[in-house]
Amino acid sequence: VNYPNNVKIVEVGPRDGLQNEKVIVDLPTKLKLVHQLSETGLLNIEAGSFVSPKWVPQMANSDDLFQEINQSISPAFPQIQFSALTPNEKGFDRAIECGVKEVAIFAAATEQFSQKNINCSISESLERFAPLAEKAQSANVRIRGYVSCVLGCPYQGSVGTDEVLDVTKSLLDLGCYEVSLGDTIGVGTPGSTKDLLSALLPVIPVEQIALHMHDTYGQALANILIGLQMGISVIDSAVAGLGGCPYAKGASGNVATEDVVYLLNGLDINHGLQLDKLIETGNRICAALGRSNGSKVAKAMQP
Ligand code: HMG
Ligand code: MG
Repeated sequence: VNYPNNVKIVEVGPRDGLQNEKVIVDLPTKLKLVHQLSETGLLNIEAGSFVSPKWVPQMANSDDLFQEINQSISPAFPQIQFSALTPNEKGFDRAIECGVKEVAIFAAATEQFSQKNINCSISESLERFAPLAEKAQSANVRIRGYVSCVLGCPYQGSVGTDEVLDVTKSLLDLGCYEVSLGDTIGVGTPGSTKDLLSALLPVIPVEQIALHMHDTYGQALANILIGLQMGISVIDSAVAGLGGCPYAKGASGNVATEDVVYLLNGLDINHGLQLDKLIETGNRICAALGRSNGSKVAKAMQP
């Protein structure tokens, strides 16, 4: 097996993690989280989203958050790309206003999830992203893409690999430099992950694919291992395994960054992160949220 030499970890805890936490997190606590994450060696942090505050109240202070990041964190960590999720032009304009240099757009592999998540069909969402992508290009803002429900949908059930391939291609055509495949409800297995990647990789360059695994059924690390074996070298994760999913019963959050780092260490794959600092960061945000740490590695290595 040829593993990649280096893996890029995209930390999504402040966005995907917190958006699914019930306790509303105030600005100083979020800033502290982003600041601590910045000290762990991460180069990519998705810090918030410019979605409708009625839909996701937890992200309502993203404007203030990004302004603070630009003023107080970015200058000290110029190597870090702080990105934001944007569902439409309105969200993109808010992001630009706050000096964001990378945005993520997100589409679903299934019609029903698209309706429930962003209140429109898949094709409507792609049409909506087109002017956003044009604006991004002229403003020199990088765009990342997400496809949700790549290994299963809470409404439709199983999802065909061709459904995922279509949306992935469309996002790349819109100008995304990379598309992250989301197992939104964490139902995938190494078997289904392998089938999906086997269908995608002959068509799409492996450098343009990332994996975004939620850990509901405890399969995320195993799925990531399959991805690494098939040449994937970009992994999304959330410190302390923050989050959950309102659409999946018993859902846990993203795979924990600490656990991915431990996996990579065991395979001698470079990632540039400091595990002890990640664990400290995860412990602190969990204390603020009044929840237990979702990282097994963090639990095993408690001081
Ligand atoms: P809508 O209600 O259809 O939108 O929502 P609309 O265009 O009809 O606008 C309705 C109101 O919202 C208007 O205000 C707009 O101005 C306002 P009103 O006139 O009623 O006062 N509005 C906004 N306000 C602030 N920022 C905006 C914005 N857009 C409209 N950007 C919409 C459509 C897309 C906005 C909504 O459905 C939405 O915000 N959805 C986001 C839901 C979300 O954040 N989901 C989680 C992120 S996706 C995810 O987690 C998956 C991922 O992790 C990968 C994986 O795991 O699979 C990425
Ligand atoms: Mg997610």
